[in-house]
Amino acid sequence: MPPSGIRRFFDLVTGRDDIISLGVGEPDFVTPWHIRETCIYSLEKGYTSYTPNQGLIELRELICEDFYRNYHLSYQSDEALITTGVSEGADLALRAVINPGESVLVPEPSYVSYKPCVSFAGGKPIPVETFREDEFRLIPEQIKKHVTPDTKAIILSYPNNPTGAIMERKHLEEIVDIIIEHDLIVISDEVYSKLTYNHHHTSIAELNGMQERTIILNGFSKSHAMTGLRIGYALAPMELLSALTKIHQYTMLCAPITAQMGAIEAMKKGEEEMQKMKKEYNHRRRIFVKRLNDIGLDCFEPQGAFYAFPSIQTTKLNSEQFAEQLLKEQKVAAVPGSVFGRSGEGHIRFSYATSLKELEIALERIEQFLNR
Ligand SMILES: Cc1ncc(COP(=O)(O)O)c(C=O)c1O
Repeated sequence: MPPSGIRRFFDLVTGRDDIISLGVGEPDFVTPWHIRETCIYSLEKGYTSYTPNQGLIELRELICEDFYRNYHLSYQSDEALITTGVSEGADLALRAVINPGESVLVPEPSYVSYKPCVSFAGGKPIPVETFREDEFRLIPEQIKKHVTPDTKAIILSYPNNPTGAIMERKHLEEIVDIIIEHDLIVISDEVYSKLTYNHHHTSIAELNGMQERTIILNGFSKSHAMTGLRIGYALAPMELLSALTKIHQYTMLCAPITAQMGAIEAMKKGEEEMQKMKKEYNHRRRIFVKRLNDIGLDCFEPQGAFYAFPSIQTTKLNSEQFAEQLLKEQKVAAVPGSVFGRSGEGHIRFSYATSLKELEIALERIEQFLNR
């Protein structure tokens, strides 16, 4: 198993202040103060114990209420599991679902952890390409092309890292029949669900016949700038969720109580700060994507998350060369599209979760690089 391509670039820039990093996919904001304060206060009060395996009941109830309010999806609190980030949730879901040798469809380009986690769980990851022409959405023809009797599950990851693509309700409707026909379980990573810019997020579980076969993964890392607190959750019907809980109970025991307390505060009072961060990402998105196109990097308009994924084909460099040369010559760090799967080649991922001032300097440097 090769090490993560993203981490390699991250390690190259750590400790160097002369480099502008558009490499790492994490908010440049710190966790809102009221959430940090809640965590600090909970420590002062001595909340340092384990919690129930599934997580604090108050947090699970708040999550279920949020899903009902936003998506009209009904979950009981025992159909929610608090995890140490979506990362743990994805690992649990895959281990719970896959029997040895079964395959899992992994649409690409996508987040780097899915394929290794499928392999670690004894399964076979099957890449399913998505294309710029389809605005990087998953289309039914591509599922048909790759699904076999051994296919157990499909991963959905929208809004998408690295492309910023989303799947609107009408696009999800197009893939539902084939998912049901092949009796697939859907593992839907919705960690960027709160960060959509023109459309309200739709969860595939909302569509007819889907809730019973979907494991929703979500968390607080991106929406509330809580990456280091390691807190997320899974929602699924009891039969599926109890399998995730069993693994979690023996391997993780529970998510950290301090982070769970912070997540309760985020669920109760985090909306305003979240909207402020989202507004700022949106502002940067519009400026950054327009400028990329202006300087000659053809960029699809991302609708969610905080990444731009322009094509670099006009430069005749592959994405690895582009990223390495840009870093060496102009001190701007970005991630080669190829690390997100073969169909990511020919693209580069820039994260705009960095200040506008830095984005502007980076854009000037990228322009100089392209001119040369
Ligand atoms: C699509 C996607 N899923 C999951 C994660 C990890 O989330 P967490 O911090 O909740 O483990 C990331 C982080 O970049 C991501 O982009």
